[in-house]
Amino acid sequence: MDNLKISFSILNCDFFNLSKSLNQAQQAGVDMLHLDVMDGHFVPNLSIGPYVIRSLKEKCSLFFDVHLMVDNPDCLLDSFIESGADLITVHAEVCPHLQHTLARINKAGIKAGVALNPSTPIYCLEHVMDQLDLILVMTVNPGFGGQQFIPAMEDKIAKVSGLVENYQLQQDKKKRIEIQVDGGIGLDTASRAVYAGATVLVMGTSLCNAPDMAVYLKQLRENIKSG
Ligand code: DX5
Ligand code: ZN
Repeated sequence: MDNLKISFSILNCDFFNLSKSLNQAQQAGVDMLHLDVMDGHFVPNLSIGPYVIRSLKEKCSLFFDVHLMVDNPDCLLDSFIESGADLITVHAEVCPHLQHTLARINKAGIKAGVALNPSTPIYCLEHVMDQLDLILVMTVNPGFGGQQFIPAMEDKIAKVSGLVENYQLQQDKKKRIEIQVDGGIGLDTASRAVYAGATVLVMGTSLCNAPDMAVYLKQLRENIKSG
């Protein structure tokens, strides 16, 4: 729990005043910037691409966590690697050659993640665990900010946590695999996700709308500590 990380999603920010939100989030102590890339096919929405990420990277020193919600991540991978991503997460549903896709990310020397939609089973991860730095359990169906956390995902987070623990027990070198949750995370849901095993919380709407991000995150950490 002491290692809990916060990844701030800018999806629902006011883009005209983005630098203000970024400064606030950075001062409030977020660990990562979560950049949601949507293509209008894999999800019914459009968002930002590599040019925006590159221009943010020039001004912002946070760790860049890029979540690709696109139909064909293999085609776009190089431009996102070049944009300055520190972590690229692809969706298992659109990677028929997941081992190969992850190998390309690994080879680029950045961190690699796999995301699972709420209905996607976890067994597709079993044979790529050695290539993973992060598993993203979607706690909403991807595409939009401001949705409600799906309660059945608590059990899925716990199952992913079990998979990670088993994998780590079998390894000599203890590589840390983060478990990230994305969608509907705020004061009321964060503890449930963390107690189920989440180690990275993506927070968009709840943090954007907080009158004071630092106060909000302090409260969130206290709530988690007190169970
Ligand atoms: C949803 C995106 C999320 C989104 C989360 O498809 O992947 O990262 O920004 O937003 P909130 O925190 O509002 O649910
Ligand atoms: Zn996301």
